[in-house]
Amino acid sequence: MRRSFRFRLAVRFSATIAAGFVAISAMSLFTLRVVLDRELDAGILNVATIQAASVTDPLSGGMSFYEWQLTPDEAASIQDLNRYAQVWRQDGVSLLRSRYMTADLPLDPQALEESAGGELVWREATYLMAPIRSLYYPLGRLGEAHEAHVIQVAASLVSRNDMLGRFSIVLVGIGLLMVVGSFVGSWWLAESAIRPVHEITDQAEEIEAGSLQRGISVYAEFGEYERLVQVLNTMLGRLRNAFESQRRFTADASHELRSPLTVLRGELELALRNERDPEEYRSVISSSLEEVMRLSRITDDLLTLARSDAGGFQVRQRPTDLGEQASSVVERLKFRASDKGVALDLEVTGDARGMFDPDLMNQAIWNLTANAVKFCRSGEEAHVLVEGDDARVRIEVWDTGPGLGEAPHRVFERFYRGDQSRTPAGDEGGTGLGLAIVRAVVEAHGGQVQAANRRDGGAIFTVTLPRGSTP
Ligand SMILES: Nc1ncnc2c1ncn2[C@@H]1O[C@H](COP(=O)(O)OP(=O)(O)OP(=O)(O)O)[C@@H](O)[C@H]1O
Ligand SMILES: [Mg+2]
Repeated sequence: MRRSFRFRLAVRFSATIAAGFVAISAMSLFTLRVVLDRELDAGILNVATIQAASVTDPLSGGMSFYEWQLTPDEAASIQDLNRYAQVWRQDGVSLLRSRYMTADLPLDPQALEESAGGELVWREATYLMAPIRSLYYPLGRLGEAHEAHVIQVAASLVSRNDMLGRFSIVLVGIGLLMVVGSFVGSWWLAESAIRPVHEITDQAEEIEAGSLQRGISVYAEFGEYERLVQVLNTMLGRLRNAFESQRRFTADASHELRSPLTVLRGELELALRNERDPEEYRSVISSSLEEVMRLSRITDDLLTLARSDAGGFQVRQRPTDLGEQASSVVERLKFRASDKGVALDLEVTGDARGMFDPDLMNQAIWNLTANAVKFCRSGEEAHVLVEGDDARVRIEVWDTGPGLGEAPHRVFERFYRGDQSRTPAGDEGGTGLGLAIVRAVVEAHGGQVQAANRRDGGAIFTVTLPRGSTP
């Protein structure tokens, strides 16, 4: 069974109330009992003093009670008024007792003895099946003639016990009412405290991929729920952005793939239309091959990016020397550069070894260097600099080409291609994925890449990578 927060809250609250009420009840019962007993004792003592004074005749030594003229039945009918009195001799022989009493009071020999010694002694006992409280009062205090006499005055505890019993019943009633009341009250309160959570959940539930822009609107203005609503809405915003960029990526990708396919199809259809000589076929095939190669390059890039989206790359770190990697990239691009009349050089300082994924890093360095060569015109220069220090390896690729224009940071966006007029004539247009891949690779290694315009013209890319554990 699922536990209900509401139920738990209501139970805890009413349990607290119940515990508090039990404590208060116990205290008031105890206080009431003390007060009643004190009053009863005062009454008994009062009667004992008066009876003691009236019973004795210091001159003759004879004794008689000052008494109402009541029959035992009449006396029994006004129980509350009832005080029993009996005079004992020290040896336990009854000397005198109230006229309306039908039996001797229960005698506690030890109390009798103590009292005969001159003390007031209190005892509780049962008399005629009812609880009583009695006082042993030494009559010796009134004169030597009574040295051996003790008067026992008793009062029934029935009405005191009744009172306490009735009070307890009232307390139990009030207590039950309070517990039930507080349970119902807190149940209701908890309901209203939890209602916003339900409403927020309902709204969140209704939001789907298509309605991400809706967001959650209820209870945003209440301090307690503001943060929850805010966090949910921020999360929805991020989801929305991710969805949007994914959608754009797919649309751009299909668009990019379509144009080479269209070209390819046109060329092939044209070639098929008439009989051609081998020279013409060769040229069609070779230009088709170019388109196919472009297509496969784009699909490779798209695949790389798709992999990076699906939870980052599997970076297989191995001891890798980035200096060596850069040197092999530069070596492979040398011809392309010298063909264009672009000077390309490499400088490696310090130790550039570290734990990197060689394939991914190779592609990143290639993309940066190939860009530098691609965007330089004849007579301009491209430089690659690899520099290692204690914790990091830095790769700098800069050139004296046209630079990155007004928004250097945008070059990392997927499918972003800068101002075409800056691309030297004769170079094939790229797809705009190269730098997006660079950034994904560098970030997968825990590094950073920055793009900027150089002050004296040209672009500069700086990659900083943590070395990882050195081999
Ligand atoms: N060294 C550079 N000098 C000037 N502009 C650059 C340089 N490197 C990149 N850019 C600009 O940034 C854009 C994006 O570069 P990126 O490498 O991502 O794409 P691309 O080179 O156009 O295509 P791809 O690399 O996918 O074939 C380029 O189109 C270009 O406008
Ligand atoms: Mg490029």
